[in-house]
Amino acid sequence: MADIRNNFVGIKSPNPFWLASAPPTDKAYNVVRAFKAGWGGVVWKTLGEEGPPVVNVNGPRYGAIWGADRRLLGFNNIELITDRDLQINLREIKQVKMDWPDRALVVSLMVPCVEEAWKAILPLVEETGADGIELNFGCPHGMSERGMGSAVGQVPEYIEMVVRWCKANTRMPVITKLTPNITDIRHPARAAKAGGSDAVSLINTISSITSVNLDSFSPEPSIDGKGSHGGYCGPAVKPIALNMVAEIARDPETQGLPISGIGGITTWRDAAEFLALGAGNVQVCTAAMTYGFKVVQEMISGLENWMDEKGHRSLDDIIGRATPNVTDWQYLNLNYIAKASIDQDACIKCGRCHIACEDTSHQAITSMVDGKRHFEVMEEECVGCNLCVNVCPVENCITMVPLATGAMDKRTGKPVSPDYANWTQHPNNPAARQAAE
Ligand SMILES: Cc1cc2nc3c(=O)[nH]c(=O)nc-3n(C[C@H](O)[C@H](O)[C@H](O)COP(=O)(O)O)c2cc1C
Ligand code: SF4
Ligand code: SF4
Repeated sequence: MADIRNNFVGIKSPNPFWLASAPPTDKAYNVVRAFKAGWGGVVWKTLGEEGPPVVNVNGPRYGAIWGADRRLLGFNNIELITDRDLQINLREIKQVKMDWPDRALVVSLMVPCVEEAWKAILPLVEETGADGIELNFGCPHGMSERGMGSAVGQVPEYIEMVVRWCKANTRMPVITKLTPNITDIRHPARAAKAGGSDAVSLINTISSITSVNLDSFSPEPSIDGKGSHGGYCGPAVKPIALNMVAEIARDPETQGLPISGIGGITTWRDAAEFLALGAGNVQVCTAAMTYGFKVVQEMISGLENWMDEKGHRSLDDIIGRATPNVTDWQYLNLNYIAKASIDQDACIKCGRCHIACEDTSHQAITSMVDGKRHFEVMEEECVGCNLCVNVCPVENCITMVPLATGAMDKRTGKPVSPDYANWTQHPNNPAARQAAE
């Protein structure tokens, strides 16, 4: 059986699945149930400074986007950091860590951007025996208006400064949680590294309005006829998160900086993809809120089964394996040629591939042959874009088949070259032409 034990910046857990800082980790009751269900670790719901806790709205705080089968695809919230008393949280953290020594327990923090505030809270957390801290520089709503959360995470100089304060005032590992609400994720990651952060975690939620009520003309979730932007998460954000993780993993300036991958992870496969792109472990929120804590059991068994099947013995065999295969567009092989192919036995003759290709691609799929509905790819027109694959309702009915070296590409009338050739060398590229001259 594959060994999925995880060691993330020295914090050990029996598996790489942690619950992200959010309602599932807001109190001991939840965290204990999560550990009983099998979660390897948690990042406790973000704590604020000592004093009266923040106050949440008393009405709807969530919005959502669903697929046609009502499966939740995107999730939006306007919740703040914990609204429970700091001392109660600290007491519970200490007790849980004592009772569950083999699980990772990291505490998320967000206090005002002054050194005294960090100096005050760090020893209180250290005293609980927690394994580490995560700096919440990501929350895009509510706290950012008060100069915290993403208001800090959007300014690399602030990130570096706060990380430095934390490293100077605690022995606990520091994980810096990044906001995706920024143009280039590499800059805050570099700042975190420069400040001495042991790791980064990403993504926090994306600023969003999920929908507008067309009776009341109020954004949802609506509080007394008004709404504000919230933070978007769930399966819909996974592609954005994967790209940001990969950007950091392959940036020479942050290479080797441990990454905790977050964003839309719902299945073991999602988790494996994050690991392959360079994440050292993963965190989950929306999937647990949608399906309950026991989703972790399928994540664990799915990951183990896949690793066994593929002969991967430990997480080190997977982590970062896909990172070298992420490249810039200009380096993709322009001599690689694929054509769509339709399995006539699987085809239900719905015609969607024909309409998509006819109206918006390259007019490469038939609709009628000998007076009968018949959908077939005309190789002489097909550019291999795979739009038809993506719109076909029958899985694996249309596949992309690469042409072998030397085979004739009926569209161009040229044989497939065995050589790798990219845009930087292409004769149509003005820069390549100039370099050649
Ligand atoms: C209701 C809700 C509350 C959240 N609260 C926090 C928080 O207090 N601190 C934090 O760092 N992230 C918070 N998050 C963000 C999550 O930790 C996570 O980064 C994000 O939801 C993406 O992961 P997911 O797609 O698995 O949900 C919250 C998310 C949700 C849905
Ligand atoms: S791959 Fe693109 S061009 Fe080829 S048949 Fe499909 S949609 Fe048309
Ligand atoms: S979309 Fe798929 S099922 Fe529908 S006609 Fe095309 S190949 Fe057949």
